[in-house]
Amino acid sequence: NKDGGTSEMHWNGQPNAIRQGNNINGKRWLNYNPSSKPTPSSIRERNITVASYYNQTAIDKAAAQHSVRLAPATIMYSGSQSTHHNVMRSAQYLHKELPIRIAHRISGIRSLPFIVGCNPTILSVHELYIRAFHILNDFPEIVTSEDEEKYSQVVKDLLDDHKDVVSLLAEGFRESRRHIEDEELVSRYLDRNLTSRLGIRMLATHHLHLKEKKDGHVGIVNVNMTLKNVIQRWITFVQQITEDRYGFAPAVKISGHISARFPYIEMPLDYILPELLKNAFRATIESHPGVKGAALPPVNVIIANNETDFIVKISDRGAGIPHDQVNKVVQYNFSTAEKSTDSLIKDDIFGNFMETMNRTTSGPMHGFGFGLPTSRAYAEYLGGSLQIYSMQGLGTDVYLRLKHFNARDTPFRI
Ligand code: ADP
Ligand code: COI
Repeated sequence: NKDGGTSEMHWNGQPNAIRQGNNINGKRWLNYNPSSKPTPSSIRERNITVASYYNQTAIDKAAAQHSVRLAPATIMYSGSQSTHHNVMRSAQYLHKELPIRIAHRISGIRSLPFIVGCNPTILSVHELYIRAFHILNDFPEIVTSEDEEKYSQVVKDLLDDHKDVVSLLAEGFRESRRHIEDEELVSRYLDRNLTSRLGIRMLATHHLHLKEKKDGHVGIVNVNMTLKNVIQRWITFVQQITEDRYGFAPAVKISGHISARFPYIEMPLDYILPELLKNAFRATIESHPGVKGAALPPVNVIIANNETDFIVKISDRGAGIPHDQVNKVVQYNFSTAEKSTDSLIKDDIFGNFMETMNRTTSGPMHGFGFGLPTSRAYAEYLGGSLQIYSMQGLGTDVYLRLKHFNARDTPFRI
């Protein structure tokens, strides 16, 4: 923003400062140089930057509008013949809807306590959203197929630019939360922000997938999802990575309604299932020092399906969660990963391996204590729940419940 204006920042769609070199975490804010006194021009430059966070009339206007949330069944049926007409309609809906939802995210960041908003990592997220808002809001009306093609490319790039937002928030809150006494405030903000982001990413990905016409799918909806197959895919993944590092992993048994099939969206499961399995594996291994592979008690996964919802229960014999921690494990940033006695685990065996995953909703999430609270927030956003029962000394049972699309009570919207 070299024009010195204090009104709107100008965004030309180019990656901005936060994506360049060591500015990734906005660290330039921290480079305090004791020998350089502030000069009138440096003060002016800083003031312009800071003012640009406040003077954003377009954002304020968009934030005042309500978002239009869609029922999953609507998403599915409106896309069922992926005709040109549907793709155009879907792009036009996003064109109107995304700036509003992103403006809401910006208001959320602005209502955080000052000390949190000043954190360089949180600031970088703030900047990402302001940039995304302007790119999407400045995009001209979508009339022709070429407009739609261009728009889809913009959305695709933004999804990629924002892929690490969850880890950035996890890092930013870890750094700044000692200044905040109100735990409720943190969890309210993160629940709201992370679920809204999931919704934005699901809608955007849905549009891109609609154009691809994948077999058995309508956009992001897997019309005939076999729940067991999705679970098995994540078991194999978590086992593989654990074996790579340890040479062994606990066995997993799947039982119950293993042939249950129904339409569902895999995206939230692709986040939640590996988080829960990772926790069960880690607890099993850590609570049985010196015990390997087949000698470890297996993790049990039980599936239940009914008209209203489906339930995945994950039971481990990993000694449970101590009494004084049961209420804390669903708090953001609570983690025992750092206190882990196993040096391999300290090295983030159960964290860093998540980095190798090409996940849709988040980047690396090692030991930030975001797995359980985020999974619970996602489940509740989708009309379900995540319940954790610790049998201290023995193990833990985690129940993930999610509503079917056509559930009559508490239907959910995205
Ligand atoms: P992280 O895995 O990054 O620590 P989570 O939110 O997934 O974050 O978990 C928070 C904490 O809850 C873990 O550090 C661990 O102490 C505890 N925990 C979670 N799942 C289990 C489990 N199945 N058995 C025992 N402890 C668990
Ligand atoms: C996010 O992932 O944080 C988003 O809001 C995605 C959007 C910019 C397309």
